[in-house]
Amino acid sequence: MKALTICGTRGLFGSVRIPGAKNSVLPMLAASVLCHGTVTLTNVPCLSDVASSVRILQSIGCRITQHSGCISVTSPETPGNAVSEELMRTMRSSLFYLAPMLARTGRARIGTPGGCRLGARPIDMHLSGLARMGARAEENADGSLTLSAPDGLSGADITLRFPSVGTTETLLMAASTARGESVLRGVATEPEVTDLARFLQSAGADITGIGTRTLRVRGSDCLMGTRYAVCPDRITAATVLCAVAGCGGEVLLTNIRSAHMAEVLRALRGAGCMISASGEDSAALASDGTLRAAGERETGVYPAFPTDAAPLLAAALLRAEGESRVTDTIFENRFACAEGFAALGARVSVRGRTLEVRGVPRLAGAALRAPDLRGGAALVIAALQAEGESRIAEAQHISRGYEDIASLFASLGADIAWVNQ
Ligand code: UD1
Repeated sequence: MKALTICGTRGLFGSVRIPGAKNSVLPMLAASVLCHGTVTLTNVPCLSDVASSVRILQSIGCRITQHSGCISVTSPETPGNAVSEELMRTMRSSLFYLAPMLARTGRARIGTPGGCRLGARPIDMHLSGLARMGARAEENADGSLTLSAPDGLSGADITLRFPSVGTTETLLMAASTARGESVLRGVATEPEVTDLARFLQSAGADITGIGTRTLRVRGSDCLMGTRYAVCPDRITAATVLCAVAGCGGEVLLTNIRSAHMAEVLRALRGAGCMISASGEDSAALASDGTLRAAGERETGVYPAFPTDAAPLLAAALLRAEGESRVTDTIFENRFACAEGFAALGARVSVRGRTLEVRGVPRLAGAALRAPDLRGGAALVIAALQAEGESRIAEAQHISRGYEDIASLFASLGADIAWVNQ
């Protein structure tokens, strides 16, 4: 178990090169299982979820080589078709192995996926989509699930009841090597979904409609090895911007796609930050640390304001003048970090899916606990603005999605360090 100590109230100054996106690389690693030949991913972030993915890949017989930001995966002729309960529980993205194992072996056995407890997070849409493609599901005595498709998966016309990111990715992977054509309607268009589709295309998949709500996929007999650069992590970029907005300072972000971040940039501009984008792949933010409240703000599916950035924006607004109400329409329990905000002296309350923030002039260091990945990062942003020392326990949640959050903010001048819990 790891903890972070943070002494706040300094301005943050410098530049940050944003690493590859967690939510792109995790499904791509799973999709590598579909490929005959070696897949090499570049711009891979060094995260504990990536390490968990490597363990899953090795457990089903894949050969992995890794060096500085690069991972190569070579899938065996017949990969394993089960992920152990222990590995399933490491992260939500263990679910991404379901479709590739099923497609390659005709069978897949999985337990309950782990990950942040943001709400119920059922997997019914993944399962009903795969069922439409011919998979039969059976619950085992130990609660695990076995899916089988002895004659392989067949293309299908599937309409999602909600544009779920994970379901779109599961069905894209399944459809890429299914027999015949699939039409996936009402899909998610998040940049990471588009990135996965482009990765699959580079491996030989026949996909059209990328970036729209309808994807057409003509199943290929087999996908090949490929080399692909993972797109930059818009949520890591949002984390740095929200921290500098709240603390005050100036930062230049490089290796971003500013088009992926339009709503986050708009919200921070509205709060009083100066933002200049010099081209599509970099942006600079300057803040004097005295922000205006955001009024009402709601998350939604892309291109709306991202759910993952909701606690990050709320953390930046804790000392803003006025009242902000941030509502997450995607998950039921996005604001578990509110307890930590309150411990720092913030005036916050959670009503249903809405976090209400009434700005206070100052925050004071406190003992905190990271409730989940983005909630933990939000507490870092809040603690960076607080006078005196804060300690964030259970900070391993944060390492699931950030390479090294202490080095990241220390490079901008923050007083932050890892300690043993
Ligand atoms: C992904 C991201 C996560 C992000 C989220 C929304 C990864 C690894 N994680 O999560 O960081 O916050 O998208 O942008 O990419 N749902 C169902 N049944 C299902 C699947 C989903 O009811 O079978 C519901 C969920 O409970 C949730 C909503 O749909 O309320 C959205 O979930 P989804 O888009 O699937 O998110 P994830 O793929 O889990």
